[in-house]
Order: sequence, then structure tokens, then C-alpha cells
Amino acid sequence: MPIDISSLRTEVRSLIDIINHHNYLYHALDQPKILDSEYDALYSKLKEFEKKYPQLIFNDSPTQRVGAKLLGGFNKIKHKNAMLSLSNASNDNDFDEFYIRLQKDLNDKDIILFAEPKFDGLAISVTYKNGIYHSAVTRGDGETGEDVTTNVKTIKSLPLKIAITDVPKILILRAEIYMTISDFNRLNNTLASAKEKIFANPRNVAAGTIRQLDPLIASKRNLQIYFHGVMNASSSGDRTHMDSLQRIKSYGLPVCELNKLTPNLATAKNYYKHIISIRDSLEYEIDGIVYKVNSYESQKLLGFTTKAPKWAIAYKFLSAEAMTTLVNVTFQVGRTGVITPVAELKPVNIGGVLVSRASLHNMDEIIRKDIRINDTVYVKRAGDVIPEVDRVSITHRKKSTKIIMSKKCPSCGTLVIKIPNQSTYKCPNEDNCLPQVMQSIQHFASRKAMNISGLGESLVETLVNNHIIKNYADLYVLDIKSLLNLDRMALKSSTNLINSIIKSKNITFDRFLYSLGIREVGVSTSRVLSKSFSTLDILMNADKAELEMINDIGPIVGENIYAFFKLQKNKNNILKLINNGIHIIYQEVGITQEYDGMTFVITGVFENYQRKEIEDEIRSKGGKISSIISKKTYALILGANPGSKYQKALDLNINIIEEGSLPRLL
Ligand code: IVH
Repeated sequence: MPIDISSLRTEVRSLIDIINHHNYLYHALDQPKILDSEYDALYSKLKEFEKKYPQLIFNDSPTQRVGAKLLGGFNKIKHKNAMLSLSNASNDNDFDEFYIRLQKDLNDKDIILFAEPKFDGLAISVTYKNGIYHSAVTRGDGETGEDVTTNVKTIKSLPLKIAITDVPKILILRAEIYMTISDFNRLNNTLASAKEKIFANPRNVAAGTIRQLDPLIASKRNLQIYFHGVMNASSSGDRTHMDSLQRIKSYGLPVCELNKLTPNLATAKNYYKHIISIRDSLEYEIDGIVYKVNSYESQKLLGFTTKAPKWAIAYKFLSAEAMTTLVNVTFQVGRTGVITPVAELKPVNIGGVLVSRASLHNMDEIIRKDIRINDTVYVKRAGDVIPEVDRVSITHRKKSTKIIMSKKCPSCGTLVIKIPNQSTYKCPNEDNCLPQVMQSIQHFASRKAMNISGLGESLVETLVNNHIIKNYADLYVLDIKSLLNLDRMALKSSTNLINSIIKSKNITFDRFLYSLGIREVGVSTSRVLSKSFSTLDILMNADKAELEMINDIGPIVGENIYAFFKLQKNKNNILKLINNGIHIIYQEVGITQEYDGMTFVITGVFENYQRKEIEDEIRSKGGKISSIISKKTYALILGANPGSKYQKALDLNINIIEEGSLPRLL
């Protein structure tokens, strides 16, 4: 079939208009209406079209320009060297392609790249003359930017004078201005309590602040700066990008500590993985890694396209947020009968994973965020956590319907009850409501509880549905014969399961308590209980006041524990477990662990430890982790690139433990 060029032309034209509009919202107004990932998708689509049909490249296509239009108010300054953009890689393939091209063009197997986090801030060009801060200009359209010298001057970490004698006469630098996440949250909290409009992200604050005509605003906002390039480096005799950054660092200019030379493909890729693994612990937002060919000679050889250098690439992280439609809301019953609203979404790709369901937490959250069916919603996914609906895009709202709590349990049909003074609704039919029964058995058998292996979801369902077991206490009367009668249960898997059940009979007190699945009694509360009561019997007979006297146990958890052990049904189950051979191993009460009652705060990144690892170790020794430094903090564990907690710890004279001393601590 012949291609209809005229209809294609209309399509390309409208795509250009849409992209240009979003460019304007983003660059000129600092008010983006779509996600970066959505913008990138539109842009790639346009580029694909233009690659296929070069006759459809319009003059005003965003692919033919460097940046966006400017807003009035500041003096315009032409950049000495255009502030180009970077080519993007959005997956391993794109990055490999870049690397292979370098291998070919530079005729070398290993390419020495300099890798840096890609800061999600505002691009700026800063000039020093004879070591004195001279001017700062925004990127603007890449050719001409705005003179924001006065505002940038308010950034405290920016030296106004370089305290070294042999600085080059003229030093033109590239940098990124940003705001730390904690400052951003603080600012938004203040704005919210003053009922003012809050900012969507730290990038928008940085951009919005630098482009305020009144420098007083900038001076109050504690902006930060990182330098990542020297434009006129050759005049100083630097041979590599790394030389330049080291030199400007010695001038006292802030350079990111995470930057690293990656001398081959494997180290380059490892760097990417490493930064992703520590991304959540960074004090600032980054959205990818920038790789630059380190040698200036090689950079020169490779040259530029009209838009970007051929010697660099921005390998973007997959976005952890996406926009989609909330198609429906269903209700899910949890282990303790709590009914949770779940968002059924039009499937959307978030960070490489197709998401079609997300948590809505509870009805109060739904009301607070004003989420309705058929709304366009932003969905977030962080690490392995269940995706959640973060907020609604009110501008996209058309016909929407309010979400109403189901009156009956979606599983067993029992009337739902609301728990007084809480945002929680519950199905009270705990003994016969299948999801509750199944999940409590699975919880009992889980790794941190009795650690019974081979008891997957479908087997539990079969056992319950066939009336072989009614609850977790029945597990210890299971025999191999009843297992072998079941579909798909072979001798080996049945024997393994029975052996695992037998092995679980000797169990420490804390694990046993955790297995019972008492509401809000997790691993750490179970530990506290096991250390506070010398036997199960004594705990079962404790009154509320005794429970609440224990540190860490508040009135709600105290009530949950008390109520659990008052119920005859629970008493019977426990008796049944004991009669069937459960042997609880007690720890002597009163033995204090190494860090009992001590609170630790962690900041920065660690070379040889995952943050979670440090936290777990401290907790297992009785210590607590907090995110706030106070006079009660026992010690701050200090990694590289610490946040504001470090200064606070110094101010309050708190013990500081550096990574080198961690082996002794842990
Ligand atoms: S190098 C010739 N390094 O990303 C290009 N840019 O998408 C020089 N950015 O406008 C840019 N962190 O403002 C470079 N470590 C980094 C960066 C970085 C953030 C920004 C930069 C640029 C944009 C390109």
C-alpha cells in the first residue's frame, strides 16, 4: 500500500506542536505538565518519523534546535561556547551501541570513560575571571541564556574568589544547580502550612528560584551547586576531563564525590548498577549517569553533532513514576481481615515493569488525595515496594466517580466493620474467610516466623479447601498420607514438607510470637516481648498496663496483644501447638544486648555495605535506627557524601562512626 505522505505530514506537524508546547512549559515556565519519560517517548517518536521520512523534517522541529524559548526579565547573554545537550541512552542496547561506536571510532577495545551522576537540576554556565566569580548564565536555548549572576552568587558553596594564585585568566565552567531533598521537603512543608502552592520536585524549585528577579528569594533557599565540566580546559594543560575536575576541585569548587573513572565496559556498567543501588540514599535527585570519554584528545577526534557531543551520553534511569487511568477500585482482604482498596489501572510501564494494580492504602488516603474512578493518576514504584497511587492529575479530570467502601467483605460477604479511631475497615469473619485463613497460615510458616519451607500459596489453598487443615495449629498433625492423596504432591515434596514441619518444632520465643500473627506485632516487637517476659504463660496473663509499661509498646499494640491472648480460640490453638510438640526456646530475661536502648542515625553512602545491612545488624543487637539527629542519638554512622545530618551531629556533639570503624561496631 502506498504511504499517504499528506496524512503523515499532519501527524508529524501535530507531534511537533505538542513537543514544542511541552518544551515551553518545561524550559520557559518551569511548569511541566507531563513526565520526562512521556516527553522522551514523544521525542523519540518524532525522531523515528524524521529518520524514516527526512522530507518531513520541519524547520521548527525540536530536533533541529538546541533548547527552548526564553522568558523575559533578565539580560540575555550569548554563550561563548554553545551549551549543548547530551544524547540519551534509555537501555543497555543504546549504551552498547554508543560504546561500540567509540570502539570503532577510537580503534580501541577498552574506552576510558569518566562516569558521573546526572543531576536533576538546572544547567548553568559559570565564569571566573582572574579567580574572581564573574557571571552565571542559564542554558536558555543553548545559544543564548539569561544573566542570573546575582542569584547564583547567593549559593553558599560557590566560592566568590578562588584562593589559589595560578588560576587561569578566564575559567568557564558547566554546573548544575539543585536543591537537596531534605531542603525541598522542608520548603514544601512550610509552603503547605502557609496554604501556598507547593513545588512538584526539587528541580522545579532550583529552576524557579534562580529565575526569580528578587535575589533575596534565592538567598533564602539554600541551593547547591556541582561543577561537571571545564569549557576552556586546554589553556590549562589538562589532558583529561578527570584532570580538569580534579583541578577545579583543588580550587575549592564543589565536584561530586561519586564521579569515577571507568576504564572498560564492565566497570562502566557496574558503576551504573552501583549508583542505582545507592540512589535512594542520596541527598539529591539524579536521573541517570553521564559517561564522557575521558581523554580530551579522543573527544576532539570524535567531535559533535549539531546538538550534542559524540563523546558523551546520558544513560537515563528508567522512570519510577508514570501516568495512567484508574479504571476501577477493588477491595482486598488481608491476613488480619483488614480490607484494603486496590487501584485497577490501565496497564502502564514503570521502570521496566508493567503495572496494572497499585495500592490505595485506605479510605482516608483516598479522600485526602481526592482520588476517583476514571481519574488520570500518577503511579509510583520504588524498588521492590508495591506500586502506589501517588496523586491525581486534576487537570485531566473528566467524568469521574467517587470511590465507595464496600459494605460487605469481597471474599466471604460478611458485613464489614470500621475499627474505631482508625482509618481501617475489617472483615470480622477470621475463622472462615478464606484469604484470612490462608494468609495467617502462610505468615505462620514464613521465613522469619516458623520457617517451614514447601508450603506455597496453592498448597495452603488446597489443604484448607479440602478441610485437611483449618488453621496453623493443624499443621503439626499433618501426615504424609494425607499429603500424598492430594493432586500434584509427590513423595519427595511431601517428605520435605513434613521434615520441615518437624524441624520447626524447636523455636525461639521471639519467632514463635511473631508467627502468631498478632496485629501490628512484627519482628522487632516480638523480640521486645520475648526479652520482657520470661515465659509465654506470663505474657499470656499480662494485663494491659503491664504491656504498656514496656518501652516501644504503645496503647494500640498493647491492646492488640492483650485482646489476642484473651480469645479462647487463640488459647486453644497455642495449647494445641504445645501439645503437638512445639518447644519454645527462651532467652534469659534481662540479658541486655550490646546496643539495647541506643539510637543510631545513618547518612551518606558506603563503599562496602548496603545501608539495609548496617540497619539490620544494629537492630539485631538491640539498637534502634532513626532518621533524625537529636540529643538522644547515640551515634551517627557516616558514609561518603553525607547530608545535613552530619552538620547537625557535629553541632550536637554526637559520636561519629565512619565506615572504616564499622567492622568493629558490627
Ligand atoms: S555534561 C555537552 N554532566 O544534563 C554536554 N551534564 O541532558 C555537557 N547534567 O544540560 C553536559 N548532570 O545540565 C553533564 N554530570 C553531568 C550532568 C549533566 C546533569 C545536565 C546538564 C545538561 C543535561 C543534558
